[in-house]
Amino acid sequence: MLPLKGQKDQKQVKKYILNRAQKMKETILVTGGTGFIGSHTTVELQNAGYDVVIVDNLSNSREDVIDGIEKITGIRPAFEKVDLRDFDATEAVFKKYPQISGIIHFAASKAVGESVEKPLLYYRNNIVSLINLLELMPKYNVKGIIFSSSCTVYGQPDQLPATEETPIKKAESPYGNTKQINEEIIQDTVASGSPIKAILLRYFNPIGSHPSAIIGEMPNGVPQNLIPYLTQTAIGIREKLSVFGDDYNTPDGSCIRDYIYVVDLAKAHVCAMTRIMEDKTEEPVEVYNIGTGKGTSVLELIHGFEKATGVKLNYQIVGRRAGDIEKVWGNVDKANRVLGWKADTPLEDVLASAWKWQLALRERGIM
Ligand code: UFG
Repeated sequence: MLPLKGQKDQKQVKKYILNRAQKMKETILVTGGTGFIGSHTTVELQNAGYDVVIVDNLSNSREDVIDGIEKITGIRPAFEKVDLRDFDATEAVFKKYPQISGIIHFAASKAVGESVEKPLLYYRNNIVSLINLLELMPKYNVKGIIFSSSCTVYGQPDQLPATEETPIKKAESPYGNTKQINEEIIQDTVASGSPIKAILLRYFNPIGSHPSAIIGEMPNGVPQNLIPYLTQTAIGIREKLSVFGDDYNTPDGSCIRDYIYVVDLAKAHVCAMTRIMEDKTEEPVEVYNIGTGKGTSVLELIHGFEKATGVKLNYQIVGRRAGDIEKVWGNVDKANRVLGWKADTPLEDVLASAWKWQLALRERGIM
């Protein structure tokens, strides 16, 4: 049986992964595990029976996320406060946990605007960290790595939806460039004969939060991304949401994105990691788009949020934001077919989860 290949029944895939991971007791290093996607992925890995070691330098996250993860799953992941730019400190993690057999590499700086102002910070943070991990993997018998890539590598695709074969466009920012360069570093390393397996997951726009509202997205300062800005406006922290442009070549004039539920995205990592652990990868480096396959405009999202929550949103149309892509959504057939994974949470539920999280932050006195 090839349970992760051509498997249509999600429940069967889930059951298979759980049985297998519980038997094998494999340990996964999750870098950036206290961040937004990293924390949700840790929960899903634990739910699937994997042991998790988190490494994070807490530059953009809080240590109490570890308590949140434990509260949800009943299992406290091991945590090491380490900066992955520090080779010796990173090596010490592999010495302490020789059982690590896979890595999911989320840790990175990710603010597009900041990357334009501080390119060297972005190149050092995002690229040196990956190089350190790739150098250490063979020495410590780590089988494979999943890299957090982004649909940003496609820029504005000439044809939509973007498939994995859509040409890579010149990056719009140093942040985007680090994603492209890191993909190439992994390709070159594998091509040179390094005995590791690698999967690149190109995410579209991750949103929402765990249904428990115990973990979620927690941006520092004024949010740059749509959903945190929207929920902060809805709760009264921000006065008004600005919609950046309604004169694009789209049905309602606002930009279109493929918004994917962070829990669905987290589950894609579990499927990909199991594929690596089972030696099922068929290409030296496998690449998957991870999205819903459906585009949603900014205005549709706002109205969807109002419908899902009953909260009226104060918004106004303003000018375009520099560097914005007009429309992008993904073809996700490959992930559906090969990984046996599908994003299946309705957008309304996803938007309701983002709102529940914002309310929980208020209740906890955080925001
Ligand atoms: N938007 C607004 N108002 C806001 C914020 C955003 O109208 O206050 C609009 C943007 O113009 C865009 C859409 O909402 O049309 C989504 O914007 P985000 O900033 O949430 O997301 P982006 O698609 O611009 O960027 C995201 C990540 C990047 C990543 C990129 C492509 O933030 O890190 O997706 O993968 F590179």
